[in-house]
Amino acid sequence: MGPRQSHTLSLLTIIIIKVRMLSSAIQFDANMYVCLCKGITDTQIRAAIQDGANSFKDVRNTLGVASQCGKCGILTREILREALHDSSNEQELFYALS
Ligand code: FES
Repeated sequence: MGPRQSHTLSLLTIIIIKVRMLSSAIQFDANMYVCLCKGITDTQIRAAIQDGANSFKDVRNTLGVASQCGKCGILTREILREALHDSSNEQELFYALS
């Protein structure tokens, strides 16, 4: 194997590793622990929001998130804001089509 082929093989290996890292990062984001004290994931928080929780207090009362050390409060609020924003955009799209 010549130096050019070796370089190509190294480049291909780096690309494969980066794709694997990216796909595992996406999978991690899809179900990550937000509240370690209570073992609550972002998926559970989004499900609670879909089931009607529309404030931080609702999510906390439903799941118990941020009820111990409170370190997860900021991320919970971020997920809540993002989920509520997404659902309002979906409603706007629905009204735009009807
Ligand atoms: Fe959520 Fe401690 S990490 S209450």
